[in-house]
Amino acid sequence: MKRNPLGSGNWPFRFGALALSLAIAGAISRGADDSVQKVEQGKKLFQERCGYCHRAGGTGTIMLTRRLGKDRSLLEERTDLTVAYVKKITRVGINGMPPHNRIELPDPELDLIAFYLTRPASLRAADTSKEGAP
Ligand code: HEC
Repeated sequence: MKRNPLGSGNWPFRFGALALSLAIAGAISRGADDSVQKVEQGKKLFQERCGYCHRAGGTGTIMLTRRLGKDRSLLEERTDLTVAYVKKITRVGINGMPPHNRIELPDPELDLIAFYLTRPASLRAADTSKEGAP
């Protein structure tokens, strides 16, 4: 008597395919979560570390209004900043802005801040819309 090879023989393959598709789905949703999380972390760090000067009414905002105009005075509303520029300015300073060294602001934190400031406005806006919520 032979055993039926089909039923049991098929199983590992099906299981493999299922595991693979779960892994792919997981990777995709993790990727998306990652960037939402990074935007949130970057935003929080920006508010803590840069917000003092760069939110409405801060020295940075006032000086940037003078140099670049009101439209480009709030870093969080800019769409023309690049990661390289944000990092460079933060490390070396500019006019009234003091340089921030790697002890004060470690690279991984600056990466998150630069990531946040250079996200498409839609991603940052979607995020700030939660601010009004209780
Ligand atoms: C003590 C106040 C202060 C703090 C803290 C500060 N800045 Fe600034 N920042 C300024 C001022 C003032 C200017 C404008 C200088 C000028 O007139 O060019 C500026 C300018 C900039 C610019 C240049 C914008 C442009 O278009 O040229 C960037 C980018 C920037 N800041 C990023 C940051 C980031 C990121 C942080 C936090 C890690 C930060 N700043 C913290 C005061 C500050």
